[in-house]
Amino acid sequence: MTGRTMLLGAMLGTPYGNHPGAWRMPWAKPDEYTDVDAHVRTAQTAERGGLDYLFYPDRTFIWGDLESGPPIVSIDPVMLLAAVSAQTTKIGLVPSVSTSFNEPYGIARQLRALDVMSHGRAGWNLIPSYEPEAFANFGLPVPSREDKYGRLHEVVQITQALWASWGREAGAPDKVTGRFADTSHIRPIGLQGRQVGSRGPLQIPPSEQGQPVVFMPFASGAGVQAAGMYANGIIGMPSSIEESRSQRDMMRSVTEAAGRDADEVKYLSFATFGLGPTENEAVKRRMALEDAAGIDKRLAHLSMMLGLRLDARDRDKPLTVTQVQGMQRRSGSRQEVLAHRLASEGRSLREILGHGVLDQNPGVVGTGEQVADMFQEWVEAGATDGFSIVVDDLHDGLDDFVDQVVPILRRRGLRPADYGGSTLREHLGLAEQIGRDPRLTDRAAED
Ligand SMILES: Cc1cc2nc3c(=O)[nH]c(=O)nc-3n(C[C@H](O)[C@H](O)[C@H](O)COP(=O)(O)O)c2cc1C
Repeated sequence: MTGRTMLLGAMLGTPYGNHPGAWRMPWAKPDEYTDVDAHVRTAQTAERGGLDYLFYPDRTFIWGDLESGPPIVSIDPVMLLAAVSAQTTKIGLVPSVSTSFNEPYGIARQLRALDVMSHGRAGWNLIPSYEPEAFANFGLPVPSREDKYGRLHEVVQITQALWASWGREAGAPDKVTGRFADTSHIRPIGLQGRQVGSRGPLQIPPSEQGQPVVFMPFASGAGVQAAGMYANGIIGMPSSIEESRSQRDMMRSVTEAAGRDADEVKYLSFATFGLGPTENEAVKRRMALEDAAGIDKRLAHLSMMLGLRLDARDRDKPLTVTQVQGMQRRSGSRQEVLAHRLASEGRSLREILGHGVLDQNPGVVGTGEQVADMFQEWVEAGATDGFSIVVDDLHDGLDDFVDQVVPILRRRGLRPADYGGSTLREHLGLAEQIGRDPRLTDRAAED
């Protein structure tokens, strides 16, 4: 035990869960994808487990094949989390908002509203967009990489300047003196970049945490550099513990190179799981989800992973000796290594799938102890500061995590017994920030 604790959040999208079979399970309500109450219930469960944040990705086009499954994003995540904020009190709310289509004034106003409405619980997953479908929906061509990241720098710096344009010193309305606000502390910013600008000031005062916490995904070079300048939370999608450690190390050194303290940036890996009272029962639960997703399709994916042609008629049989000898490794991911091991051990094709080998993120299908072991191993190895959990079936998966994994992490001293504060900055152990970080140069606004 190194005495490290971990941060915990949940990556959410559709209300059914992340497994492609979840929306077809007997209990699933197929039209739930536009039901805000379903998202509220999920948020309340996460809050019951003391999770630090909910992270919502965003895409501004139909993302996913509607012929075979729900859209991964439907309702605008800022609006969704505004509804969630009214029904929760502690958990952090982190929507994704693209810098490619929105103007800084709109972002500053919307996210500050979420921050004020939630009493200091808002974050901003700051993303540049890249899919042509998204740009087409705004009548725009896909910009060059240089323009895409140039705009990102301008948008974030102007947004943060707007957040500082209404200072705390403006004070509270005073009925006795009749002075509503000291407007010498509510000042225009007058910033004009190459692509965006704003005069200001913003029309909403700071929240209890000052301003929303910036999150960014771990992306390519320019994205990592930008994250080193602005982000406090890094949404990581590593395929293994080694990749997670190297991404975290890189983020820490890039953050220091930008003049900030490495401990100000928390690297948070996606991790998935499937729970049961025993490993066998967890695998059976997952096999039902695999069946619901369409076993033919799933076996086609497994065929690719093993480098073999599998026949759906053999779903309940193990591989033949010749097949086992013919297996080929491709990515070396945790999931691929597991699939090869299970196949060599003589497990049936459905059983191999039931161990979660097709999950996009590293994880465990097994007991709460096994999931807690994996989380502990990653944190103690310095591979991550915490996890954004990806839940297979939200019907029971998040409740099971809260009831079966969280108590073990608490017993091991890896999670606090309860929320220590009520703002997202407090959950992440971050100091207040209002406005642009003074340690950074004025690069974007002056370019
Ligand atoms: C973990 C993760 C989460 C992301 N979330 C979103 C998202 O919610 N919406 C979006 O449009 N792009 C998202 N992206 C894409 C990034 O914003 C970025 O455009 C992509 O990684 C390509 O970056 P690059 O142009 O620097 O190579 C995400 C990427 C990663 C790795």
